[in-house]
Amino acid sequence: MATIKVRQNGPYLVDGDDVTLIDWNGNPYRIEKRPFALCRCGGSTNKPFCDGTHSKVGFQAAEAAVPGSEDKPAS
Ligand code: FES
Repeated sequence: MATIKVRQNGPYLVDGDDVTLIDWNGNPYRIEKRPFALCRCGGSTNKPFCDGTHSKVGFQAAEAAVPGSEDKPAS
């Protein structure tokens, strides 16, 4: 089963061996390791992958699936 985890103030973390990431032409990206992170802030120089720039630019996006739910420590 594939899961996509929305990281608080960070990327989308994609996990699962059955996930294929393709570009607009249908060509697959080479995935070096799993899970892998997709940029959500727009600042990565390695799009569509996250390169950690979100931390440097202070990206803020902390909307939880359940508003008001208590934050868990990052994992
Ligand atoms: S979310 Fe990490 S660089 Fe954009």
